[in-house]
Amino acid sequence: MDFQPDIIDLGMGNPDFDLLPIELLRRSAEVYFATADRRSLQYGVEQGDGYFRKALAEFLVGVYGFIVDPDLLFITSGASSALDLLCSLYTHPGETIFVEEPSYFLALRIFEDHGLQVLPIPMDGDGLIIEVLEERLQEVHPRFIYTIPVFQNPSGRTLSEARRVELVDLAKQHDFLILADEVYQFLPYGRKPPDPLAKYSEKVEQVISINSFSKILAPGLRLGWIQAHKQVINRLSGSGLLESGGGMSPFTSAQILGLIQSGQLHANIINLQKEYATRLGIMDSALHEKIPQAEYEKPQGGFFFWVHFPGLEAKALRPIVNRYKVDFREGGLFSSEGGLQDFMRLSFCFYNQEGILTGIDRLATCLKDRSQS
Ligand SMILES: Cc1ncc(COP(=O)(O)O)c(C=O)c1O
Repeated sequence: MDFQPDIIDLGMGNPDFDLLPIELLRRSAEVYFATADRRSLQYGVEQGDGYFRKALAEFLVGVYGFIVDPDLLFITSGASSALDLLCSLYTHPGETIFVEEPSYFLALRIFEDHGLQVLPIPMDGDGLIIEVLEERLQEVHPRFIYTIPVFQNPSGRTLSEARRVELVDLAKQHDFLILADEVYQFLPYGRKPPDPLAKYSEKVEQVISINSFSKILAPGLRLGWIQAHKQVINRLSGSGLLESGGGMSPFTSAQILGLIQSGQLHANIINLQKEYATRLGIMDSALHEKIPQAEYEKPQGGFFFWVHFPGLEAKALRPIVNRYKVDFREGGLFSSEGGLQDFMRLSFCFYNQEGILTGIDRLATCLKDRSQS
C-alpha cells in the first residue's frame, strides 16, 4: 500500500493512525507478559483458544443481544484470510458465485485468485435486490453469495430485515452458502442496524458470518473470527492449513483477551463511533457546500460515501487528480461487470476534520477545472 503524505487520499479505507489504540495494546501486552505462560507461543488449538472464544462470545452477546455459542466461533487472521480459506474449502476454479453490485473490490480479487466466475446482483437502498436474485437462481446455481449486509463497502447500504429473512430462505431452498461479511456491524452512528446474519448460523448450515478486529481495534493485529454452524466449524478446523499450522493467531488473541474481558474493546468502539460520526457529518456538510452536484445516500455507519456523478467518468480524472493533491477510489473498481464508472468511493475514516475539509476542497477544484476545460 503506497502512502503519499502530501496527497489527501479520500479513497483510503484504513483507520486513521491517530485512532489506532497503541496505549490500550501496550497495557494489555504488559499484563499479558507479566502473567502469561508459554501456551500461546505453542501451536494453537485449531478452532482458536477456548478462553478467547468465550470472552469474544460474551462480548458479542452484549452487542448483538442474542446468544452466541463459543463453540460456534472460529478464530481467523482477519476477514480476508477467512474469505480465502472459505473459497479454498468450498469452491473449485470455474464455479459460479454471486456478489453484490457494487462489492468490496479486494474481495473480488480473492475470488479471482480462486478462478471463480463472478455474477453481480444489483442493490437498491435496502441492499441486495431479492427478486433479481430469485430470477438468477432459476438459471444458475451459485456455490455461494458474498454479501456485506451492513454499511456496505462501498455503498454504505444495509440489507433490510425482511430481505435478510428472504435471503436465508432462498439459501436453504437452493442450497447455496451465504458468506456474510459483517465487519461494519459494530460501527453504526445512529440507529442500531438489523441483527447480523450471524444470528441464523447456529441453525442454518448455509449461513457463514465473517468478522474482524480490523475496524474495531487495528488491522495490523490480523485477527478476526467466523461464526457458523458446527458442520462448518468442523470443516474449517479439520482443514490441512489448520492441522499443519494450528489455530490462527494464538499469540495475538492471547494479548487481546484481557482487553475484551475488561470492557476496553467496548469502550474503544464507543470512542470510534463518536469520532467517525463527527467525521461523517463533516464530510456530508463539505460535499453539500463544495460539490453540490454530488448525489449520494447519507451513510448511517461504516466508513464510506458512495457518490454518483451523472455524466462523469471517474477514471478519466485519474491522470489529473494527483496534480490537485487529492485522490479517491473510482467506482469501476467495485463493479464485477465493468460498470459504475460514474461513481466514486470517498472515505471519512482516515483523515481528521482538517484533512477531510482540505480533501473535499481540492476535489471540488479538480472537478470544477475539469468541467470548464
Ligand atoms: C467489507 C470488508 N471486508 C473485509 C475487509 C478486510 O478485513 P480484514 O482486515 O479483517 O482482512 C475490509 C477492509 O476494508 C472490508 O471493507
